[in-house]
Amino acid sequence: MSQRNLEALDVGAIREAFPILQREFNGEQLVYLDNAATTQTPDPVIDAMSDYYREYNANVHRGIHHLSQEASIAYEEAHDRVAEFIGASGGREEIVFTKNTTEAENLVAYAWGLNELGPGDEIVLTEMEHHASLVTWQQIGKRTGAEVKYIRIDDDGRLDMDHAADLITDDTAMVSAVHVSNTLGTINPVSDLVDIAHDHDALAFIDGAQAVPNRPVDVEAIDADFYAFSGHKMAGPTGIGALYGKKAVLEAMQPYLYGGDMITKVTYEESTWNDLPWKFEAGTPQIAEAVGLVAAIDYLEDIGMDRIEAHEQELARYAYEQLDAEPDVEIYGPEPGPDRGGLVGFNLEGVHAHDLASIMNDHAVAIRAGDHCTQPLHDKLGVAASARASFYVYNTTAEIDELAAAIDNARQLFA
Ligand SMILES: Cc1ncc(COP(=O)(O)O)c(C=O)c1O
Repeated sequence: MSQRNLEALDVGAIREAFPILQREFNGEQLVYLDNAATTQTPDPVIDAMSDYYREYNANVHRGIHHLSQEASIAYEEAHDRVAEFIGASGGREEIVFTKNTTEAENLVAYAWGLNELGPGDEIVLTEMEHHASLVTWQQIGKRTGAEVKYIRIDDDGRLDMDHAADLITDDTAMVSAVHVSNTLGTINPVSDLVDIAHDHDALAFIDGAQAVPNRPVDVEAIDADFYAFSGHKMAGPTGIGALYGKKAVLEAMQPYLYGGDMITKVTYEESTWNDLPWKFEAGTPQIAEAVGLVAAIDYLEDIGMDRIEAHEQELARYAYEQLDAEPDVEIYGPEPGPDRGGLVGFNLEGVHAHDLASIMNDHAVAIRAGDHCTQPLHDKLGVAASARASFYVYNTTAEIDELAAAIDNARQLFA
């Protein structure tokens, strides 16, 4: 048994809160290592959403009756809780609920990009962007005439910050960068990037989908103009994400979706917009999901974001060392250290990543295989696909041993 240095978290007790982890397939206990895609949901989150539907389900903002008042308070206060969690001192006005990180990217691209960008403007991304940002800004570039440029990554999978300093100029209008790469595991120096963007009066959007779930994040320390993440990657429900935006920037933006709730006054000719954040939340929102997201934040903060970060880094180091010891395994991204997060992307020589994931599935080990929504990055790495093991609060080094055993099994099958 190789449990080491993880006493800080009582993983056994944590696992008991996640009913799904008890599942078995073909008589083998589930080993869930696909957390960068979606994390599992603990009882307190399931219970909070169940309570909402049992006790106070109603539409928000517009009801006079008790249920609507209770639902409205819970929904509105959920914005305050998210603001507090990521250090947004402006409170609810700076937090817009979206479907997920992807919708947050699209919201800014449409509501800000389409109105503000034109020929001569530049959008600077990184070579490790997720399609959520890459495809979105690429399309906004095509529609507005703005040029999209990419900050290079070096051979270790880190951003080339000298290239960033060259690439970001007074022509740059937006810098959009991933905080933690979902393919390489690299933790980017996002506050340095934001500083460079601001030196040139550009705005900065940070994609925190792989950062907020597993480390303390302070959007004001980073000084990002926009910051986004998804609930389903942080022990919360699907269907909800959040966009943080600096109040002044959000105020200056046009709405993204039009309809009910986002207006103040409507005539047959004209409409005026509601206050922040409701101006960006048209129609009936994700009420149960907002309740679930708050429960997830409470759950994670009870454990402690510092401890979650330490736990994941230890697991990532352990997995890296196990895989690195195998000469036929190629690992992507930086070596373990302060700038590597809790996932390991790799390939086993002679075995397609999909075959590897399928053999692992035979042993109830769930990993991801494919391009992880980073096709251009995979092209750059010279591979069509990779396998990815990603960790969360409930994972153990013993599970990584099972991953290593499943890789061994695949190697023998394909020998
Ligand atoms: C870095 C990163 N950005 C964005 C996304 C998109 O998240 P969602 O599918 O929740 O919109 C993901 C999901 O894998 C991601 O890892």
